[in-house]
Amino acid sequence: MKTLRTNQRQGLQGALEVPGDKSISHRSIILGAISNGDTEITHFLSSEDCLRTMQAFEDMGVSIERTKDRVLVHGVGLNGLRQPKHALNMGNSGTTTRLMLGLLSGQPFTTELFGDQSLSRRPMKRVTEPLSQLGARFKVTGDGRLPITVYGSQELNPVDYRLPVASAQVKSALILAGLCSNGTSTIIEKQQTRDHTELMLRAFGGEIEKQGLTLKVAGQPKLIGQPIRVPGDLSSAAFFIAAATLVPRSAITLHNVGLNPTRTGFLRVLKRMGADITVQNRYDHAEPSGDLLIRSAPLHAIELTSDDIPSVIDELPLIALLATQAEGTTKITGAEELRVKETDRITVVAAELRRLGSEITELPDGMIIQGGTLLAPQETDQVDSHGDHRIGMMLAVAALLVKSELALANASAINISYPDFFADLNRLIPARRAAL
Ligand code: S3P
Repeated sequence: MKTLRTNQRQGLQGALEVPGDKSISHRSIILGAISNGDTEITHFLSSEDCLRTMQAFEDMGVSIERTKDRVLVHGVGLNGLRQPKHALNMGNSGTTTRLMLGLLSGQPFTTELFGDQSLSRRPMKRVTEPLSQLGARFKVTGDGRLPITVYGSQELNPVDYRLPVASAQVKSALILAGLCSNGTSTIIEKQQTRDHTELMLRAFGGEIEKQGLTLKVAGQPKLIGQPIRVPGDLSSAAFFIAAATLVPRSAITLHNVGLNPTRTGFLRVLKRMGADITVQNRYDHAEPSGDLLIRSAPLHAIELTSDDIPSVIDELPLIALLATQAEGTTKITGAEELRVKETDRITVVAAELRRLGSEITELPDGMIIQGGTLLAPQETDQVDSHGDHRIGMMLAVAALLVKSELALANASAINISYPDFFADLNRLIPARRAAL
C-alpha cells in the first residue's frame, strides 16, 4: 500500500525530463537485434515491460550491454536469432508479445511465450489469425490467449491484410513478419495508429512505403544498426501535464517529450478542453520532440469519438479524470479497445473514480463523465491500480486534488512503465513553506 500525496494547494513547479518512450524503447531493441552491426540506444526506458523485450532477445542469443545511460545491442541480422532454451516470459507486456509473435513467425524454430495473469487474459487472435494466413503455425491454449507456441517458418508468404482493429501492435507484428517473408507485403490500417515501427524501420535501412492507410513493406532487407536517442514518453509526461493543468498555480516544463503526431492526441484534446500548453522548442529528428510548458487552467467538457481514439488510447484514463474537473459533461465513445488493455480500463476507471465521488456512466465503448466534481473518498480511503500501471498513476494525480488521506493498493504496477514516477512527481511539488 502506498500513501499518496494529497491536498496539493501549492501549484506544481519546476522542470524535468520524463523517461524514454516505451513503444520506441521496445522497437529499438527489436530492430537493433535483427540488424547487422551495433545499435546504441540512449535514454532507453528501463522499465519492467521494456526489460522483458531485452531479456527475450538475450534468450535468443543476442548480446546486449546495459549501463545506466545506454544500451548497446550487438545485432545478429534478420536470420541470426537462435532458439531459446526455455519458454519466453512476456510478463505484463502486450507490445513485447504481439511484436514477438510477428517476428517469431518467420524464424526457423519453435518458441513458447507465456505471460502474467493480466496478459494471459488479453486477445492474441488478432495477431495469430493473420499470421496463420502467411504460413506460421501456432498452438494456442484456451480462447486465443497466452500461453502460445509459435512454430516459425522461413517460407512465410508476404502479408496482404486489412486490419479489422486500430492497433499499432498488430500492424507492427505484421510488418515484422513481412520482413521475414520473401516478397512485398501490403498492410492496410483501419485508422492511423502510432507509426514508430515504420519510421524506425526506414532509419535502419528497411524499405517501407506509406500511402494513406496502406503500407508496403519489402521482405529480407539488410538492416544496419543505428544510434537511437529515445525521446521522452508523452504517455508518461501526460500524468504531469494533467497534474499541472488541474492543480491551481502550477507552471512546469517537461523537456524533450516525444511529439510524433500519431501520439499527440492528448495535447490536442487538452487544448480543446481549454488547457494552457505551449511547445517551446522543437527538435526534428526521425522522431520529433520538444519542450512543453504547462500552466494550470480551467477546463470545459468535450466529446471524443472514434476518430480521436487511436492517438489518445493510453491517455483515456487521464482524460476521464480531467473530465471530472471540467465544466459540463464529457462523452467518450468509440473506445471499446480500452476493454482489452492491461485491465478493462472502462470498468476500472469508472469504479476507481466513483470511489472518489465522480459520476461516471459506463458505455460499451466509452463513458459519460459529469464534470465539476469535488474529489473525496466516499467509503474507504483506498484506491486500487488493479495491477494496471496507467490506472495507478492516474489515481496518484487524482489524489493531489483530494483533501484527506488516500492510499494506493497495488502501486508497484507503476514499475511496468515508470519506475521513478513518484520520485519525479515529488520533484515537481515544492517543499511546504514553514508556517508563518
Ligand atoms: C502500443 C500500441 C497500443 C498502446 C500500447 C503500446 C505499441 O496498443 O496501447 O500501450 O507500442 O505499439 P494497441 O496496438 O493494442 O492499440
